[in-house]
Amino acid sequence: MSRGPRLLPTPVGLELLGPTPPDWDGVFGAAGPLELEIGSGYGHFALGYCERHPAARYVAFEWRKKWARHVQAQADKRGLRNLRVIEGDARLHVPRLFKPGALTGIHLQFPDPWWKRAHQKRAVLTPEFARLLLQLSAPGGKLDLRTDVQELGELMLETAEAAGWVNPLGAGVFHPADPEEVSSSRERRYLAAGEPVYRGRLETR
Ligand SMILES: C[S@@+](CC[C@H](N)C(=O)[O-])C[C@H]1O[C@@H](n2cnc3c(N)ncnc32)[C@H](O)[C@@H]1O
Repeated sequence: MSRGPRLLPTPVGLELLGPTPPDWDGVFGAAGPLELEIGSGYGHFALGYCERHPAARYVAFEWRKKWARHVQAQADKRGLRNLRVIEGDARLHVPRLFKPGALTGIHLQFPDPWWKRAHQKRAVLTPEFARLLLQLSAPGGKLDLRTDVQELGELMLETAEAAGWVNPLGAGVFHPADPEEVSSSRERRYLAAGEPVYRGRLETR
């Protein structure tokens, strides 16, 4: 993901980052479900999902400034008032950004694999972070995991389930593809190439 749009000059989402959670009703100008995406990349999922679910209030973290600013600009261009992109490290800011029980949905799609030693410092779904996400989720809150790497999919399911997320299909079971759902930027490539995608759909009780 090194090529892509030029870097737009204005940072996005930094005003939301503080020691305590923002007033999300005020930020979005409406009450409603609150969803989080970690690593939105080029943003096909965030943009498509927000178009399809106008009542959802969607906070997307992307630490690559170029992509974060591009996706926010696209949302603004399309008049999507329910998407706010934040350029920054989700692992650092998520703990302070949401009150316990605030999140109705969390999306982590095609995170960079972290079993290589060099990648481990970039891992998102560590056991500790999976427990934190559970605490921040509302009863019935959903965790949407996707990857093209089976081993990583299995590890993410194991980590989330060990943290207390419930897999309605049974421990370690991947969710079948749903042709109606919005695909992420990466996912489009894999599906077009006929490559497998491994999905986890977990929830809180
Ligand atoms: C492989 S890409 C997948 C992008 C998108 N989810 C998709 O499916 O097309 C992973 C993305 O996560 C971002 N990312 C990784 N760790 C992050 C973190 N801790 N905070 C914010 N963004 C992160 C990367 O910059 C990259 O854009």
